Amino acid sequence: MTINVGVLTAGGDTPGLNAALRGLGKSASHIYALQLIGFYDGFRGLLHDRHIVLNESALSGILTIGGTILGTSRDKPQKMVVGGKIEDMRDAMVETYRKHHLDMLVCIGGGGTQKNAYSLMEKGLNILTLPKTIDNDIANTDVTLGFDTALGIATEAIDRLHSTAHSHHRIIIVEIMGHNAGWLALGAGVAGGADVILVPEIPYQAESIAQAILERSQSGKHFSIVAVSEGAMTKSDHKKEEQLLADKKGAKNKKDKEKARLALEGFYTEQPGRTMKLSQDLERLTGLESRVTILGYVQRGGTPSARDRLLGSELGSSAAALISEGISGVMVAVKGQGTKPVELKSVVDKRKTVPADHIWLQTARRVGTCLGD
Ligand code: F6P
Repeated sequence: MTINVGVLTAGGDTPGLNAALRGLGKSASHIYALQLIGFYDGFRGLLHDRHIVLNESALSGILTIGGTILGTSRDKPQKMVVGGKIEDMRDAMVETYRKHHLDMLVCIGGGGTQKNAYSLMEKGLNILTLPKTIDNDIANTDVTLGFDTALGIATEAIDRLHSTAHSHHRIIIVEIMGHNAGWLALGAGVAGGADVILVPEIPYQAESIAQAILERSQSGKHFSIVAVSEGAMTKSDHKKEEQLLADKKGAKNKKDKEKARLALEGFYTEQPGRTMKLSQDLERLTGLESRVTILGYVQRGGTPSARDRLLGSELGSSAAALISEGISGVMVAVKGQGTKPVELKSVVDKRKTVPADHIWLQTARRVGTCLGD
């Protein structure tokens, strides 16, 4: 009997998504009696039943291509913007699932997608997920698809920034993605030999960074590279954020909740300027010239690394094997040298940040990197 499987990619794109789709689809057709259809643009394609049959020809030639052939979006099934209003569209998605007589829906995405997929599971769908995000912040998996490629790109950027920083005797601050987790900035910072690494897990003080930079200057090194995670904050901003989060949590009535939500939103809206502010502060405190490079979406673009091609293929083909065994309600996690299904519930609403005793942090401190604290 044929098993019908739907697949979608959701959240921010990452290199390696097409390798996962290919791994799933090719294993499905070569070994298991699975029929695969792909929904376009994340959960929105499922809502509107925009799909493509993922046969051999659709999956051919995509292994090395970045992005996702299915397209993606950040739409949430339970809070979808439809006709200018926010609606729970899960029942309509269940209808699409039933219409295609699907036995399983595979959702490939980051933390938000794991949660959204779980919300469809609560509506009775058989769900299996794969972990992907360049941020590497999904709980219960050693690593996520796309992280390795982004890590390589950010490391190369730091390598390239070294020579120009050195030539001009400047501070160069490089802002690296990662949302509220410091994996990318820390990994690339250590691999690229950044002199200062700032991560959200360790609130910083501009004065400590300035001191480290001045000490470098005094020892004859007249340039410094600062790798800063987009979510990193000063100690005082961190305190403010904690207070605002506590206010939001403690708000009793609807009016106070809305007020607290707006206050927090206002705080975050100011945040994109943080790296520029740091640059100005460092110029003022050190008397050295400082420049900012924001890597942005270049970290998510282009061809996947060999590691991400391998990982995508492994995750996709493991998913096909699990589906053929009738296993659902799991995320295919990376554990050690292999993959292992873990309960989807164990992943939802959790974020894997860098632990204080992580070897990369220890290594950075041991080699004399300033962590801003
Ligand atoms: O989750 C991946 C990520 O690239 C984060 O590092 C970044 O904060 C965010 O997505 C950017 O999101 P968007 O693509 O919606 O602008």
